[in-house]
Amino acid sequence: MRKTLVAMFGMLVASAALWGCDPVTVHKVTSTIFDGVPAMPPAEQYCEDYHLKKLQEEKEAALKKNSASAAGEGEGSAHPPYKQKKCDNCHDKSKDSGLKKPKEQLCFMCHPKILKGYFLHGPAAVGACLECHDPHSSPNKSLMKLERAKLCVQCHREPRQAKAMHDKVTATGLFCMDCHDPHSGQAKYFLK
Ligand code: HEC
Ligand code: HEC
Ligand code: HEC
Ligand code: HEC
Ligand code: HEC
Repeated sequence: MRKTLVAMFGMLVASAALWGCDPVTVHKVTSTIFDGVPAMPPAEQYCEDYHLKKLQEEKEAALKKNSASAAGEGEGSAHPPYKQKKCDNCHDKSKDSGLKKPKEQLCFMCHPKILKGYFLHGPAAVGACLECHDPHSSPNKSLMKLERAKLCVQCHREPRQAKAMHDKVTATGLFCMDCHDPHSGQAKYFLK
């Protein structure tokens, strides 16, 4: 993910250098041939504005493309036991909850190793898997209840200690889970 972004930025810089100053060249040519073409701002200024505008357009297009694919559009998911209609692996009609085990224990039956490492993320540690996952199916990848851009910030609205860094990285189109494991980790803050 980070590599892709770095490569993308490299491409932006490279293509910015190749664009040249087409409008200025065009203006020079046209104003030599025809009279009455309006006066131009200084060439350097025009180059700079033109490049900045192009760069901005390109960056926006890249971000849009990146977030469309990374948001998980068209990447729906279905839980194998649900898809295979093994409803009874989780459901038990004889229980009040309708589930074989209490909600906070149910998922650990088949995912006993989901928590690894010394640092555990609060909601995962207490088995509140359903805060983030749908048990059956989802329009998002990995059975996520919300798309990637929204999943973490439903709870994390508190001010970041590392605010400047987070503002910068989220502005580049990175998602929280690109750097943080959502469940647990060996490193503090479950950094990947
Ligand atoms: C991996 C475990 C799992 C499997 C497999 C599973 N369910 Fe569920 N199901 C749940 C959980 C957990 C809930 C409770 C969701 C909640 O409270 O947010 C639930 C809720 C439901 C509900 C209540 C309404 C709703 O959607 O919240 C129905 C109906 C249901 N399941 C039907 C089924 C059927 C039919 C199948 C098989 C095709 C199935 N489930 C397979 C875990 C499972
Ligand atoms: C009856 C066994 C069973 C139970 C109970 C179960 N799972 Fe799963 N789950 C599986 C299997 C099998 C897979 C596919 C293999 C894998 O990724 O481990 C899977 C995969 C997943 C995936 C990855 C899906 C993807 O598209 O990549 C998620 C997320 C998940 N389970 C969440 C949960 C949650 C949340 C619960 C509790 C509501 C739960 N599971 C309970 C069997 C189960
Ligand atoms: C804070 C939100 C959150 C909670 C709570 C959470 N998950 Fe996840 N889980 C995610 C996200 C996000 C992904 C996808 C990670 C990615 O694609 O980078 C994921 C992926 C998974 C996967 C598939 C990939 C893998 O790591 O094996 C499984 C299985 C899974 N979760 C099970 C669970 C279970 C079981 C629980 C409860 C003990 C749980 N999750 C709690 C957010 C969460
Ligand atoms: C359901 C609410 C909820 C969701 C959703 C959620 N978190 Fe958390 N998160 C918590 C709670 C509760 C804590 C523990 C509070 C604390 O230690 O300050 C926590 C702690 C953390 C911490 C450690 C903070 C510290 O100071 O040690 C990180 C990092 C974190 N979450 C990242 C994420 C990421 C990334 C996601 C999305 C994949 C996410 N969270 C989604 C509730 C949530
Ligand atoms: C580019 C990687 C990256 C991304 C993307 C990222 N983080 Fe972090 N996050 C970090 C690093 C590195 C730290 C540790 C900062 C420190 O040690 O001061 C951290 C620390 C944290 C902490 C604990 C300390 C603090 O600053 O509050 C929380 C909570 C947290 N991140 C949540 C999030 C959430 C929520 C998102 C998505 C909106 C997110 N992070 C996106 C890298 C990232």
